[in-house]
Amino acid sequence: MNLVQEQTVGAVQPPVLAVVGIEKSYGGGPRVLSGVEFAVPKGELLGVIGPNGSGKTTLFGVVSGQLRPDAGSVLVDGEDVTRLSAAQRACKGVGRTFQVPQSFQRMSVYENLLVGARFAAGLGARAAEQYVLQVLKQTGFANKADMLAGNLPLLDRKRLELARALATRPKLLLLDEIAGGLTDDEAHEIAATVAEINKSGVTVIWIEHLVHVLTSTARSLIVLGEGRILAQGEPGQTMATPTVRQLYLGMEPEIDGPLCP
Ligand SMILES: Nc1ncnc2c1ncn2[C@@H]1O[C@H](COP(=O)(O)OP(=O)(O)OP(=O)(O)O)[C@@H](O)[C@H]1O
Ligand SMILES: [Mg+2]
Repeated sequence: MNLVQEQTVGAVQPPVLAVVGIEKSYGGGPRVLSGVEFAVPKGELLGVIGPNGSGKTTLFGVVSGQLRPDAGSVLVDGEDVTRLSAAQRACKGVGRTFQVPQSFQRMSVYENLLVGARFAAGLGARAAEQYVLQVLKQTGFANKADMLAGNLPLLDRKRLELARALATRPKLLLLDEIAGGLTDDEAHEIAATVAEINKSGVTVIWIEHLVHVLTSTARSLIVLGEGRILAQGEPGQTMATPTVRQLYLGMEPEIDGPLCP
């Protein structure tokens, strides 16, 4: 039995998410994910980094159900959801944002959130309205609820993507580059909101290229490279591993031993 299976089977409370032996390629092309497995305990704030094309978004597709893996399993709260659709997984508490924002441009901020609260969280009309008000406050939209999504500036479009995912009332929230294209201050602002959401009990997995934002917010980190997990663990230690230093920061690993012959 491997580590993920032991954690899944042996623990009193199963991890919110376990992925086991995931393999994925597109249309019979080269492997995009190879033997990817890890478990995420309840309450975790896990960061995922890796170069362009390393398979981060594909991993989210496999976890949230937009993509079927060629092999391997996805377990949510110990239940195998590999064969469930994205909509079914959303109802089981898997919420995600998209790298390219997918809000309904001609609907207001409020209406965008209401769709998630009604159709993914499955709340009745009154409960959905109440819950949306809470999400508006939590994500800084209290004064912009009536604005058309299509008229929002970039920071707010990113925030709306986050709010839309939150409106589905996820227990597991997958964030795909919600700070991309923002200034440093804006990125830290959105990181503070993510930390608050996590504190309220939502388990978060956050893909981001802004490593410093992620390492200062996440409690643990996974580094993907060419579809494999290269390193994982506490952010500082993970970033310090020779493989990650070489791959991600473009630094040579420290040479052990004398430099001169
Ligand atoms: N729909 C698709 N069809 C074919 N190939 C795809 C598709 N989506 C992604 N790929 C390929 O799979 C690989 C992994 O892509 P993916 O989008 O998962 O990477 P990523 O780590 O999210 O990259 P980025 O940091 O640029 O967002 C890349 O080589 C990409 O070109
Ligand atoms: Mg991506």
